[in-house]
Amino acid sequence: MASEATTGRPAVLVARAVFSETIERLRAHFDVETNDADDEWSPDELIRRLQGKAGVLLTGTQRVDDALLRACPTLRIAANMTVGYNNFDVVAMDAHGVVGTNTPDVLTETTADFGFALLLAAARRVTESERYLRAGRWTRWSYDLFAGAEVHGTTLGILGMGRIGQAIARCGAHGFGMRVLYHNRHRLDAAIENDCRATWVDKDTLLRESDHLVLVLPYTPQNHHIIGAAELARMKPTAVLVNLARGGIVDDAALAQALRERRIAAAGLDVFEGEPHVHPGLLEVPNVVLTPHIASATVRTRRAMADLAADNLIAYLTKGRALTPVNHPAQRRG
Ligand code: DGY
Repeated sequence: MASEATTGRPAVLVARAVFSETIERLRAHFDVETNDADDEWSPDELIRRLQGKAGVLLTGTQRVDDALLRACPTLRIAANMTVGYNNFDVVAMDAHGVVGTNTPDVLTETTADFGFALLLAAARRVTESERYLRAGRWTRWSYDLFAGAEVHGTTLGILGMGRIGQAIARCGAHGFGMRVLYHNRHRLDAAIENDCRATWVDKDTLLRESDHLVLVLPYTPQNHHIIGAAELARMKPTAVLVNLARGGIVDDAALAQALRERRIAAAGLDVFEGEPHVHPGLLEVPNVVLTPHIASATVRTRRAMADLAADNLIAYLTKGRALTPVNHPAQRRG
């Protein structure tokens, strides 16, 4: 197996299949081991393949934790091709002097667009009505056929007001004439609030007043099931919930029950607890739009994400400076 010691060039692992252009970009600087078959390696297999590697490009599904870092003493950087980095144990990475990077900014607008795609599809019953049409059940027009919820001019709630939350707010306020409320741990600067035409409210007000509630907060243990049965009960019975963030933020079993009992009108979900497994209760109810974690999936954006992850490896391993680090270990492996 190639390693820096044997070839003089750092060795990196690309742990899932990515664009061939991204691999070529890496090959200009490193000895690169790839996973062209896109196999899902077990933690042990990942550790085995990381022996002698200085860097790894990940897609967010493999964990980088204390056990892996202990077993891979040459690893200096883990570059995620995602903005979310809940697969990183940042405390362990700091302790081992390993830098983690993510891919902010390049996916912001694309992901916000998809938030609106889910919101519109759920509110206007797009997939539900398409299934009806495809099943040959459409025989005539009628006044209330798939009558859904209004979007334009309604109240948009956003939980988690980072870059993507702000892009969704701008889209809602400027594109759909919506009143925008948000809740975030920290209130944003007045200039950003003005740009987004968004008003900070407490979480309870957000739940009670939103016609459409979009979740875009990072997954942390504190955010686990931040939307559960109690929160769903506080929402309007006409409300639409959109989860673009991470599985585990919503209690999917409680949501399936709320949708079944029409305690909220509809949901649009791109992420799931324990994905790719989807709670069977969600598969059974008609008033939910389900997509397989594709919010950032346009060809251009996925290319930009892969290239930024590669550029982080290149910048850190050739110049000692990552472009978009998520941590700053006091002592770095070198
Ligand atoms: C991200 O970048 O975090 C997206 O959810 C894709 O995993």
